[in-house]
Amino acid sequence: MDENYYRYIRGFFGKWASVYNFIALPLTGIWNKVADMIDSKAKIKILDVCSGTGTQAFAFAKRGYEVVGLDLSREMLRIAEKKNKYENVRFVVADATKMPFENDYFDYACISFALRDMPYEVRHRVLDEMRRVSRKIIVVDYHIPKTKLHRRLHVSFTSLYESKYYRDFAKRNLEDLLQEHCFRILKETYGLVDFVKILLCERKSFEGKQENTNC
Ligand SMILES: C[S@@+](CC[C@H](N)C(=O)[O-])C[C@H]1O[C@@H](n2cnc3c(N)ncnc32)[C@H](O)[C@@H]1O
Repeated sequence: MDENYYRYIRGFFGKWASVYNFIALPLTGIWNKVADMIDSKAKIKILDVCSGTGTQAFAFAKRGYEVVGLDLSREMLRIAEKKNKYENVRFVVADATKMPFENDYFDYACISFALRDMPYEVRHRVLDEMRRVSRKIIVVDYHIPKTKLHRRLHVSFTSLYESKYYRDFAKRNLEDLLQEHCFRILKETYGLVDFVKILLCERKSFEGKQENTNC
């Protein structure tokens, strides 16, 4: 399965890379809203997981943070590097299930519009890695409607252009997934009316009172 997934994702984003920025134009306001979730005067370190063409990484860099953007797709990162005008951001080609960083290296790890581009098991491995390298994380993705009819309409529309893993992602609850990985949601906000959900989370401690069986 893994090999198929990597081949599929590299092929999928290799094809979309040249037009991705244009397609993602409606999301322009989201990148700033996400960056505004972090309110720090310090030169903190932020990892942008599955950075794609780097727009979210640039929104962090503009605020003076030290940013690393990581992605599997060389084609997506090539566009990011071409657009980059900041000295405080760099990009690495790497797999988010095996991040080349030490434990707790970052202050924040952010993943936007990417957990949905992974099979269920890979999604888990990526969250494990985010938890390992950073105490706080930000997760950004579509806000999937709760009612059956709305959800069906939403999924039928988004599946026209999303990866083949999207249907599985949309069936599941993002908050439950974060809870399973022992993250506590600190802040929740919405963008593009309520089409996009932004969650700022903190890693629960293994010490002290356990809040669920895994944490
Ligand atoms: C829809 S794009 C999102 C890009 C960017 N975060 C944004 O918000 O525009 C999803 C990205 O996830 C990347 N990706 C998927 N699986 C990955 C993995 N295991 N490791 C690193 N990147 C991955 C893809 O290559 C693609 O660039």
